[in-house]
Amino acid sequence: MRVDATTDDPARTAADTVAVALLEGERIPHDTSDGALNALVAAGEARARARHLALTHADGKRWLVVGLGRREDLDADRAAAAAAAVVGRARELGTRVLCWEVPHRAGDELVAGLVEGTLLAAYRFDRYKRGNEDGDGDAAGDGDGLVALLVSDHHDRSRAVEAAAIVAEAQNRARDLQNRPANDLTPTALGERARALAHEVEQVTAEVHGREFLAEREMGAFLAVAQGSATPPKLIVLRYDPGEGSDAADDERPVLGLVGKAVTFDSGGLSLKPAASMTDMKFDMSGGAAVIEAVGAIARLRLPVRVVAIVGATENMPSGTATRPGDIVRASDGTTIEIDNTDAEGRLVLADCLVLARELGAQRLVDVATLTGAIVIALGSGYAGLMSNDDEWAALVEGAGAASGDRVWRLPLHREYADMVKGRYADLTNRPEGRKAGALTAAEFLHRFADGVPWAHLDIAGVSNDAGRPWAAKGGTGFGVRLLVELARRVAGG
Ligand code: BES
Ligand code: MN
Ligand code: ZN
Repeated sequence: MRVDATTDDPARTAADTVAVALLEGERIPHDTSDGALNALVAAGEARARARHLALTHADGKRWLVVGLGRREDLDADRAAAAAAAVVGRARELGTRVLCWEVPHRAGDELVAGLVEGTLLAAYRFDRYKRGNEDGDGDAAGDGDGLVALLVSDHHDRSRAVEAAAIVAEAQNRARDLQNRPANDLTPTALGERARALAHEVEQVTAEVHGREFLAEREMGAFLAVAQGSATPPKLIVLRYDPGEGSDAADDERPVLGLVGKAVTFDSGGLSLKPAASMTDMKFDMSGGAAVIEAVGAIARLRLPVRVVAIVGATENMPSGTATRPGDIVRASDGTTIEIDNTDAEGRLVLADCLVLARELGAQRLVDVATLTGAIVIALGSGYAGLMSNDDEWAALVEGAGAASGDRVWRLPLHREYADMVKGRYADLTNRPEGRKAGALTAAEFLHRFADGVPWAHLDIAGVSNDAGRPWAAKGGTGFGVRLLVELARRVAGG
């Protein structure tokens, strides 16, 4: 979809449909030539109630009046929800070019909310539907739907609009990766996406390593997950360096290390999941998808911060070569791990990835992972879980989450939980006894591998798919992309 800012009056744009916001207790400032919009308000047809819609025709266009609620409650999230409502109606109306009239006194974050809400809601995944055999048209959501979005305001909003479009498009690409089934989106295919990104975006480099690299580096934890699968694992390293001339090149700003879990299918391994729990396990690569596409957006925005990203991609399958419950392996930092449940595989993959991220110079760490069912019980789809070994870093991550719409809620680490992952025969067990605090013991396991570097763990199992967002009830949400981009902005100091 094309996305452009304009200072033209909406009536003078090429749009066939114009969306106009109505706020509680306010009038619509710019009406159509015949006053049709305020007439809708007077008739009680248009209302300020959030997401309420009313339609009229004037000046050769359709006009959609959408309720945005009370001005004091208005934030990017609500703007995005209203935009999603508009997109739903626009789709029924056959709208091709939509123009948003930016509400008076709206900040850039609201403009971003409108743009992101529109692009996220317009997203369709129909790569596998007949008539789309070439496999494209999934990220842009074109087809017979919206082809262009215009954002009209008195003053120039092009910077905010462009930035929001970059982020939303990256999020939609992450959703594409999530929604692709495991027989298509293999670790190899994910590696190809990382390579393609490095081609598309200047200042990004990609390395995609196979089993030999894992063996050379003695990544026994990651390898233990991969060894049951006939599909080769990949360890993906993406680097973004804004380069000379950028403020980040030689200054004190920390190198941001992003780590993503990309289990392209989690059967549970020999500790096999029951069928009902396995159905959506193609989404177990959501953290890795978010990390990859976030790096793309950070680079497209040319943020002055250096990033090293590690994505651990593998299947978790049962077979004659699979890890047996009780096996003991050694991670690349020398820690020994008793694998008491092969379904607790994410922490094994991440352990070696965290070690590598530190070795490659990461000075601040964030890992993103669909790690536990326990976090789904605790927080549902409202928030991702955040656990951290550093209050300052946690606060920065939490703030980036709140501002971006990817909400996170901090949960505690404590020696009491750390004690629960101590092994009987090895340093650690991947499966604490009992079911207490499953999300926290998983985090404590990872904590060991952050080794004193400020680190934040995001458990996104409840928010990565089917999260009931106004712009995506079902399928992948791309959770994490917006948060990581906002975090990079904050690390860059802007
Ligand atoms: N990928 C799952 C976590 C998950 C569960 C994601 C539900 C999305 C929805 C993870 O690998 C897993 O299986 N975790 C186990 C750990 C347990 C065996 C210690 C879990 O949470 O049950
Ligand atoms: Mn599992
Ligand atoms: Zn998993």
